[in-house]
Amino acid sequence: MASRVTILHTACFLALLHSCFGDVYFHNPKGSNNRLNEKSAARTNANRVFDSQNNNRGGYNVGDATYKPAGTDESLQYRMKYFQSGTFKQYGDGEAQSYLTLEWTNQHGCGGDEDTDPHKQNCNIVLQYMCQDEDVSGATEKLRDGVNTNTQKFTALKKKDENLTQKKARQAADVDVNMAYHETWEWYDKCRNRERCKGLFTADQQLTTNNGLGYSGAIYTRQNKNGNRRGYECPEERDYYPYWHPTPWKDIAILPINMSLCSYHEKESFNVVPRYECLELYVGTKTIRHWSRWNNENDCKTNGGQWTPFYNYLEKAPAYKNEATCKQQTKNGYTYIWGRPLGEYTEQCLVALDAPECKAAPWTRSNHLGNTKGGRASNYTWTLPFFPSGNTKQCVVRIRYNISTDDYDPFNTNSSQNHNKQAGIVSPIQQNPLVDIGAGNTPLQLAINTAQFGRTFQDRSHVFELRPRPSGLEKQRIYNLNVRGKRGNIVQVYPAVEYDFIPNDLHVTTADLVHVQWTGSNTHNNAAPGGDGQTGDAGEGKSGTDRNNIVQLNKLSENFPVPYENSTLWENAKIAWIYHGKKNVSPMDLALNMASSGRYRCFTAKDCPGQKHAKYIFGVGLKMSSTLDDAPASYEGAMLRFNKGTYYYACSRNNNFTNRSQKGTLVVK
Ligand SMILES: *[C@@H]1O[C@H](CO)[C@@H](O)[C@H](O)[C@H]1NC(C)=O
Ligand SMILES: *[C@@H]1O[C@H](CO)[C@@H](O)[C@H](O)[C@H]1NC(C)=O
Ligand SMILES: *[C@@H]1O[C@H](CO)[C@@H](O)[C@H](O)[C@H]1NC(C)=O
Ligand SMILES: *[C@@H]1O[C@H](CO)[C@@H](O)[C@H](O)[C@H]1NC(C)=O
Ligand SMILES: *[C@@H]1O[C@H](CO)[C@@H](O)[C@H](O)[C@H]1NC(C)=O
Ligand SMILES: *[C@@H]1O[C@H](CO)[C@@H](O)[C@H](O)[C@H]1NC(C)=O
Ligand SMILES: *[C@@H]1O[C@H](CO)[C@@H](O)[C@H](O)[C@H]1NC(C)=O
Ligand SMILES: *[C@@H]1O[C@H](CO)[C@@H](O)[C@H](O)[C@H]1NC(C)=O
Repeated sequence: MASRVTILHTACFLALLHSCFGDVYFHNPKGSNNRLNEKSAARTNANRVFDSQNNNRGGYNVGDATYKPAGTDESLQYRMKYFQSGTFKQYGDGEAQSYLTLEWTNQHGCGGDEDTDPHKQNCNIVLQYMCQDEDVSGATEKLRDGVNTNTQKFTALKKKDENLTQKKARQAADVDVNMAYHETWEWYDKCRNRERCKGLFTADQQLTTNNGLGYSGAIYTRQNKNGNRRGYECPEERDYYPYWHPTPWKDIAILPINMSLCSYHEKESFNVVPRYECLELYVGTKTIRHWSRWNNENDCKTNGGQWTPFYNYLEKAPAYKNEATCKQQTKNGYTYIWGRPLGEYTEQCLVALDAPECKAAPWTRSNHLGNTKGGRASNYTWTLPFFPSGNTKQCVVRIRYNISTDDYDPFNTNSSQNHNKQAGIVSPIQQNPLVDIGAGNTPLQLAINTAQFGRTFQDRSHVFELRPRPSGLEKQRIYNLNVRGKRGNIVQVYPAVEYDFIPNDLHVTTADLVHVQWTGSNTHNNAAPGGDGQTGDAGEGKSGTDRNNIVQLNKLSENFPVPYENSTLWENAKIAWIYHGKKNVSPMDLALNMASSGRYRCFTAKDCPGQKHAKYIFGVGLKMSSTLDDAPASYEGAMLRFNKGTYYYACSRNNNFTNRSQKGTLVVK
């Protein structure tokens, strides 16, 4: 292991190799799989933001805030709004955490122990996020989902002596505020103009040798030999983890092939060690250029560049203006470091990240996009970060999944074994090889695509917010209670899932807060084209609309909601925070608000005085349909504390007897 660590900063990292097909889909938060708001079952543009390599049918539309499609008005999209953790480093473990269940399905199996649960392949899963402050300068640089399904444009650099004015013009002409933006334009330009890592095993794939500047860039990989572009994602970074240059991603957790790799990942995550870039200047100036051809220290220095460390960080801490005051900070138990953040060239004060968690992946079966052994989907409980600045962050979460076989030694196969006829080198794997099994010399063909033998899948959420906690709620644990799934029956939504609450069996204490919140789309029509599956959007209420609510049940096996008079859930709930800010919400008004997905706030005008709540009084203004068609598709919700008890609840619209169960259990101890 040690030798692998030492090569990390000098050359690019030697990769393990992996095989096969194995789509991965996020269900909570809802993964986009590159969808935006299309009415079709198949996504419109698989290259919109990132390279998923998933089936065109997967994914969920971006949330709508109201009962109408957001259309081209981004402010009418709904971003899930999770509360950050409190300062749990100060309060201690088991306090002040905000828990969000990340849930996904992966197709080709994962997890398990070699001895007790041998698998047909190994896999690793990497969970990461990126965040941005709300006040980031310039609309074009904002993290966003966009309002159309096009891919951002990109104009390749043609002459390497481009000056800063020309660079800015090229960038401005490419980046469109109406399209999704995760990685930055500079990130992709950097990737394209940097030499690809030549030490990687590429089997018999012929990678493009010229990026337009006379050499092969990091946009060409074994899995993407022609350098196809998806959003501004860097293909080399996408395919390999850990990456050997600084990246905009922060690690949440690594679920590795082999637990013996954990000590390596915990030490080598970019969360905790700097990564290097070669810095060069615009010709004839003192201005640092955002890209360099050189991907290693030796080439960089030989060519007059500065091999420079960059640090990953939780957030910037501009209040501490010099190294000494920065490093002295221990505020809230965090470590502060002095270094360069990606994309900037001056050293500054940064809040350090912790090492990612490293643990075993949940066991799943091969060729089956389903649950783990306990009958639950694969999941990881993310303890949301606490940001000392107290700022709201806009964020995206990403999952990558790849699988390996033992057809050759993954730790010791590199470019020296790339197929090279002239030199007499035969790649250990080749395209659809014919193998002799001795049956009268009749060869059999194996289905091996060397571009996919070692393959990475990905999904990402839409943009969501991480908000600071309301004052007075710094110390409680918060559990997020959300809804997964989309409209349609099982074959229509596949490989997405039908509706359910998540977690649908939640255990908390009387001190904990439960943040109830959901999002949905008004354009989940699941119409043609349907790709590999069925179109149609079987379900209640208006076609294409997702709706959710919460009504109490007496028993999980019953389907009629308890009449309000008999209910206990709301009488036993204390509101710690509610999105509309109204004080003194009665249990009955809370029940109404939850049952109507925010369409109503009060039964009577007396309880909702003033203009602000006027249109949300029961029976005033828009009437609500019994299937919630004119209630908002998303509900920002409330944080509730419950008395001891076991409570059952359902969604009145989607729960459909034998057909579709959308019910949950809440156990309060
Ligand atoms: C995990 O790695 C260790 C050390 O490299 C090795 O001995 C062990 O066989 C590996 N286990 C599996 C399941 O591959
Ligand atoms: C950048 O290059 C263009 C084209 O050669 C030139 O017109 C412009 O003056 C240059 N700008 C700077 C700041 O050097
Ligand atoms: C490839 O691996 C072999 C040993 O397995 C090593 O000797 C060689 O230096 C490696 N080549 C590169 C380019 O990393
Ligand atoms: C995928 O797995 C291979 C083999 O372990 C590894 O080289 C590569 O870095 C991994 N990529 C990601 C994104 O995990
Ligand atoms: C997450 O997975 C574990 C293991 O299968 C399971 O026990 C747990 O209930 C799951 N959590 C949720 C919220 O489904
Ligand atoms: C179950 O759902 C399917 C499709 O939504 C529908 O065709 C069928 O009639 C439903 N069955 C029952 C018993 O409601
Ligand atoms: C159950 O679903 C089927 C198909 O969507 C629908 O025809 C039926 O009316 C539903 N039953 C109820 C009680 O909602
Ligand atoms: C509601 O409570 C009343 C009085 O206790 C009882 O008679 C009735 O059966 C209850 N209804 C339901 C649906 O629980």
